[in-house]
Order: sequence, then C-alpha cells, then structure tokens
Amino acid sequence: MPMNSYLKAITALGGGSLHPGGFSWTLGILRNFTIAQDEVILDLGCGSGRTACHLAKTYRAHVFALDNSETMLSKAKSRALQEGAEVHFVLGDMLDLPFKDNIADLVIIESVLIFLPVRAALQECFRVLKKKGYLVCVEMFANGSLPENEREELKSVCGLNQIPSYQEWLNYFQSTGFTFVKTLQNKFPGALESLKELFNPDPCWFRPKEQVFLDPASLSVLIKYKRLMMRNKKHLGFGTFILIKE
Ligand SMILES: C[S@@+](CC[C@H](N)C(=O)[O-])C[C@H]1O[C@@H](n2cnc3c(N)ncnc32)[C@H](O)[C@@H]1O
Repeated sequence: MPMNSYLKAITALGGGSLHPGGFSWTLGILRNFTIAQDEVILDLGCGSGRTACHLAKTYRAHVFALDNSETMLSKAKSRALQEGAEVHFVLGDMLDLPFKDNIADLVIIESVLIFLPVRAALQECFRVLKKKGYLVCVEMFANGSLPENEREELKSVCGLNQIPSYQEWLNYFQSTGFTFVKTLQNKFPGALESLKELFNPDPCWFRPKEQVFLDPASLSVLIKYKRLMMRNKKHLGFGTFILIKE
C-alpha cells in the first residue's frame, strides 16, 4: 500500500513523539504501570522509537518496536544506537502482526490506529496479548460538533478513513473484547503540553549537523494540517485508553 502523504511528511520530519500530548504524556501514562524486567512489550507503529527506547532503558524489558515504514525504522534504529537502548526492531504491518498469539504483557500504540481499519488492528492486538496483558492507546477523537467540511478535509489531508468520537473509540475497544481499566478524554493539546515537552527535550531530534530537507509536497501537507488543527481545536481532543485482555 503506498504511504499516505501526511505520514510521508511526518516521516521526513522525523519527530520523536508524533502523538497528542507528546512524550510527557507517555511518561504520565507509564506511571500507571509496574513493569518487570522480563516482560514483553510491543510498541506498534513505533515511529522514530522514542517510547520504545525509553521503555527498554528504563525497565530493561524485552521491547519490540514495529513499524511498516523502513525510513521510520532506520531513524528509530539510529536513535537506539545513540541512546544505548536495546530494542528489537521489526518491519511489519499492524494488520498482520509477525508475532505469535499470547506473547505480550503490554502493547502500546500512540496515534496509529486512526490511520487504519481500527477493528482489524485491534483484533491483532488482542491476539498477541497474554491473558491479563494491557493495551495502552493514545488516539485523537472528534466531537460531533466538528463541521462536516472540516472533517472531510482533515480526513483527506491526513489520509484517514474515519475520525472516531471518544465514544466510538470506547465501542471499538469493547467490541474487540477488551475490558476498560482507565480511560481519559483530553482536550486538544495546548500551551501547557508544549511547555511540558520543553522539559523533556528529545535527545535525538535536534542534531545541528543533520539537516532536515522537506520536499514541497510534504511541507504543504504539514502546513495544511497545522491550519486545520488550529482552527478546529475546540472540536478535537485525544483519548487515553488503558485496557486489559481478561
Ligand atoms: C503518527 S505516527 C506515530 C509514531 C509513534 N507512535 C509516535 O508516537 O511517535 C504513525 C506511525 O504509524 C506507522 N504506521 C502506519 N500504518 C502502519 C501499519 N499498517 N503498520 C505499522 N505501522 C504503521 C507510521 O509509519 C508511523 O510511524
């Protein structure tokens, strides 16, 4: 499947935490967990691998980071080298995970499901999780108040099939068989979140020697995306979903 132009643009840009709330939000979520050394963690749609590297360094768990973009994975691998993190990187598709049934203690997905047929992706997560294993997701949602033309434009710019509401996300998880542990409905990230990110700078993104060249098409997608998000922020939010396979 050809990569959508929004994903291509953010891949070229190569940010460290390409999900609402950023890395600070991830750290906050992880405080809900006690992770043992021998646990198996899957970071699916890992992007440039910041969360995966953090997990590997902090908990010394067996971390597998999967993405279907070779470019993203190569950025993630160079991050792991630079950060001294031991992560097993896997080129693969979330819709057909190259993992056996019931092997993972924790699956983490940050801003990936929204790009996919959600139900099929969640069924794969359910399959690979152990009984009593956790699924953590951070995904954007749209309220019913989002004007139809803006919704369609956002879907087209980002290559999305859908922008679920918070309730629709909950329905997806429940109908796959997950049980809710904790779910949060958050406002669109604002100045406070950006400030928190300043306290958690990405050690691998800002490398003065390494220039980031964006092709005009990618630049144009990113500008359109930014404008759309800013003018619709009161209609958008992001959900944090902590679920268990019972
Ligand atoms: C918005 S980025 C989020 C990256 C990362 N989770 C983060 O928070 O920084 C979405 C990621 O999902 C990956 N992705 C999209 N579709 C995928 C699929 N079918 N299988 C695996 N990865 C996929 C993209 O390549 C991209 O790295």
